[in-house]
Amino acid sequence: MCGIVGYIGNRKATPILINGLLKLEYRGYDSAGIATLEDEDITIIRNKGRVKELKKSKDLDKAQGTIGIAHTRWATHGKPSVVNAHPHIDCHKNFAVVHNGIIENHIELKKFLTDAGYTFVSETDTEVIPNLIDYYYSKEEESNDRLLKAVYRATQDLKGSYALAIISKIEKDTMIIARKDSPLVVGDGEGEKFVASDIPAILEYTNKIFILNDGDLVKITRDNITFFDEDFEKVQRKAEIIEWSSKSTDKGEYESYMLKEIYEQPNAIRETIGTRIVQNDKCDFSDINITKEFLESVSHIYIVACGTAMHAGVAVKPIIERLTNISVEVDIASEFRYRKPIVGDDTLIICISQSGETADTIAALKYAKKKGAKSIAITNVMGSSITREADFTLYTHAGPEVAVASTKAYTSQITLLTLLAIHFAEVLENEDKEIIDNLKNELTEIPSKVSIVLENSEKIKEFAKRVYKEKDLFFIGRGIDYAAAMEASLKLKEISYIHSEAYQSGELKHGPIALIEDDVTVVGIITDRRLVNKSISNLQEVATRGAKILIVTDQGIDEKIFENIVKIPKIHPFLSPILSIIPLQLLAYYISKEKGLDADKPRNLAKSVTVE
Ligand code: M6R
Repeated sequence: MCGIVGYIGNRKATPILINGLLKLEYRGYDSAGIATLEDEDITIIRNKGRVKELKKSKDLDKAQGTIGIAHTRWATHGKPSVVNAHPHIDCHKNFAVVHNGIIENHIELKKFLTDAGYTFVSETDTEVIPNLIDYYYSKEEESNDRLLKAVYRATQDLKGSYALAIISKIEKDTMIIARKDSPLVVGDGEGEKFVASDIPAILEYTNKIFILNDGDLVKITRDNITFFDEDFEKVQRKAEIIEWSSKSTDKGEYESYMLKEIYEQPNAIRETIGTRIVQNDKCDFSDINITKEFLESVSHIYIVACGTAMHAGVAVKPIIERLTNISVEVDIASEFRYRKPIVGDDTLIICISQSGETADTIAALKYAKKKGAKSIAITNVMGSSITREADFTLYTHAGPEVAVASTKAYTSQITLLTLLAIHFAEVLENEDKEIIDNLKNELTEIPSKVSIVLENSEKIKEFAKRVYKEKDLFFIGRGIDYAAAMEASLKLKEISYIHSEAYQSGELKHGPIALIEDDVTVVGIITDRRLVNKSISNLQEVATRGAKILIVTDQGIDEKIFENIVKIPKIHPFLSPILSIIPLQLLAYYISKEKGLDADKPRNLAKSVTVE
């Protein structure tokens, strides 16, 4: 969702701001803008649509300043338009603000400010913020920290979530930033500072990054970064040195981020396994402290997440149950707290979130914590909000995932959660050594098996050409294959805009088979050896009714019966979604490509969903 970039230094700010916005495009947006501080005034340039159009705008020549803020907006309050685009400025044109989040009490604040003589031009919730800052600035005594104090007072009035960056034509050498429930980082350079919603936007300038805590208010000058906590006390924060190269956020030789990330999966999985599997010993999870006593006390594990991350949970539920003998329930985060689940101090909640910023997942985690649950966060983003809430954090090491459609995060999440299940079993002194050893061996072989699948994409490309004009597609599977079918269906919907459904193969006869007619496409996933014959029967039932069939399988299925079979290497049934999803990620990708769509930036979607 909305993206923020800021710069204060001695270089011209505009190119740095635009470059940062381009790096944040993955978050999803519908308008963009920048504000720079000139000698006397603040210049604001905004447009509806893409950053590349903003970049071409002749007006950018007017933005010559060395301090600036920029924004990509994903519309919530007010339609996408120039007037609703950020930055917003107060009616006296003193303070420009970019904001990510939602101000829930903006109506009452607007009334208060209108009564005080302030005027508004946009439909946004954000516009109250610069006006509120102006209001408090006028009430503050003259001092070096007058702007800082005014921003602090303004944030005290805000209900909701925000990441803010503020510049002012009155205090010309200062930028103030603040965060509550929306991500924000500051990069420390020599005589210059960078601000962004996410590290990749500024990584090419500095790898020394401060990740703001919730409630932080920060005063930034060219040479200093001063932190204040939620009680407005001066505090020290420690910088992280980021090890990703800025190249890892470039497309490189690939035509899109999504394709690049699909092809990065062998490495993402390898990096996620890292040094956790130890030869002739237990897995290394020394970064978390889960004891036997605790696991023995757990009566219930909830896995809570959204979208693809939730599908990773569905895929690992059987492994965790099998290895721990503890029942696992997988919940959609946006539903979790409203259904009032049974949570207590005998509950373990595992929250999965690639971005670590998904509002619903974080809200579910907070709910469970309040009820006494212990929590583990699985995320791909260092220092993300979820890591601040959870008792323990485990990182997938997939590297930055830029494309909106999640691919390498999914397979890395399954990998890490499988390792975690093994760890639980080892802590519990589970006797089932054979399955544990098998899984460990198979996990180490998975990166090369994924490479094999990736090298054989021709059949998928051909099939995409045959089906890209269709209106509906079905993905079916039994057991763990159904988990992969759910994820395959989501990938297709997201980037090709084709309606699709995932069903448990055995469920077709209970209703959905009524939708099958000549030429409807059904994709079957068959990796569970015990269920091959049953799954084949289900596919024959739809074939007889005219369906076109594609099968993804590691089993020996007769090619005389089914013409389109994509073979994947044999794999432990528990791990099969890691392999079976790969051709189906590619199928979604090539269908989207045939349709001439931009797979990296599907319509209406944002990479990181920071509002509920
Ligand atoms: O960052 P998260 O893993 O918390 O994101 C959860 C979902 O929003 C995400 O998986 C979404 O479904 C993706 N677009 C799927 O490709």
